[in-house]
Amino acid sequence: MQDQYNRKIDYLRISVTDKCNFRCMYCMPEEGVDYIDHKDILRFEEVIRICRCAVKLGIHKIKITGGEPLIRRGVCDLIREINRIQGIDSITLTTNGYRLQEFLPELKEAGVTGINISLDTLDEERFQKITRHEGLEAVLKGIHEAVRIGISSVKVNCVPMGVNSDDFAEVAMLAKDEPVHVRFIEMMPVGIGKEFGRIEQKEIMKKLEEKIGPLMPVEEKLGNGPARYYSAQDFQGRIGFISAMSHEFCQDCNRIRLTADGYLKLCLNYHSHLNVRDFIRSGVTDGQLEEFLREAVYHKPRRHGFEEQDNEEREDRRMAGIGG
Ligand code: GTP
Ligand code: 5AD
Ligand code: SF4
Repeated sequence: MQDQYNRKIDYLRISVTDKCNFRCMYCMPEEGVDYIDHKDILRFEEVIRICRCAVKLGIHKIKITGGEPLIRRGVCDLIREINRIQGIDSITLTTNGYRLQEFLPELKEAGVTGINISLDTLDEERFQKITRHEGLEAVLKGIHEAVRIGISSVKVNCVPMGVNSDDFAEVAMLAKDEPVHVRFIEMMPVGIGKEFGRIEQKEIMKKLEEKIGPLMPVEEKLGNGPARYYSAQDFQGRIGFISAMSHEFCQDCNRIRLTADGYLKLCLNYHSHLNVRDFIRSGVTDGQLEEFLREAVYHKPRRHGFEEQDNEEREDRRMAGIGG
């Protein structure tokens, strides 16, 4: 599929639930939120049908996200089924890592090719402050075990903010002795993220270089996403940056998103009126569904426009309702 700006769209991010067992301070309010009604959540057979049609149109890479995807019952079965669709090259997962250890054997067997784990600090107290949950040890064990069990791509996502500003080098060190790539994601003004200050890539790099030495840009592409990678001396993994604001990557955007309640999102920062769930529940044929997807993708916005104040179509969901 191509959009009107000739971008090739081959990556679909699927959020399977808006629920999460953590309450990360930049993502969810402590008291929780009203979750999507059960009947409005896409059933797995609906997700699989959408994937089958999307693959015919050129989608080859799938990311499973949440909320926290591992709390949706049967998620490994979904992954296995999607993986069976001819034309799927990779299926990856983004998780908070809390229950990763228990799921790893099944995830591997289901064919997961990559796992991204969110981890903003290695300090127990700050971990609890940020996630409002215990579990640092479980997350760390999940990361190590993912490498040990042979998941081919293991990445850590760290969102820099005030609370963890002394922890960047320590988090980056996770890439030293194991082939784990550590990425720093500039805070995006989505949902509660709007209330947080953004620490720019160059500031993070400066802090990192003071502790771990020079970071050298590498050209290799690791995965489907917008990260730019650097090598550090004697590190097995790479250090990456996803800097939507200071290094906008929209011109290379290759992805669309499906929310847990079945909205097709063409851009992270644009509200979606495209309700695929109601469309398929109205009894359409696969041909009609394909046409719906193709037509929608053509109109993908040119860029996120995070900085625009007067964007009326701006996303007002929380990150957990989008899937990151
Ligand atoms: P891989 O490296 O292939 O695993 O993909 P990824 O980096 O896209 O995966 P992940 O789910 O770990 O996302 C990491 C961060 O990148 C999240 O904060 C996402 O919100 C952000 N991200 C992914 N795609 C986009 C995008 O199109 N625009 C913006 N602004 N951010 C994105
Ligand atoms: N800005 C940047 N990244 C965010 N994430 C959640 N909210 C934001 C935000 N406002 C990250 C999570 C997770 C990934 C999917 O998105 O930490 O690693
Ligand atoms: Fe959950 Fe991810 Fe949001 Fe944290 S950032 S509350 S792990 S969905």
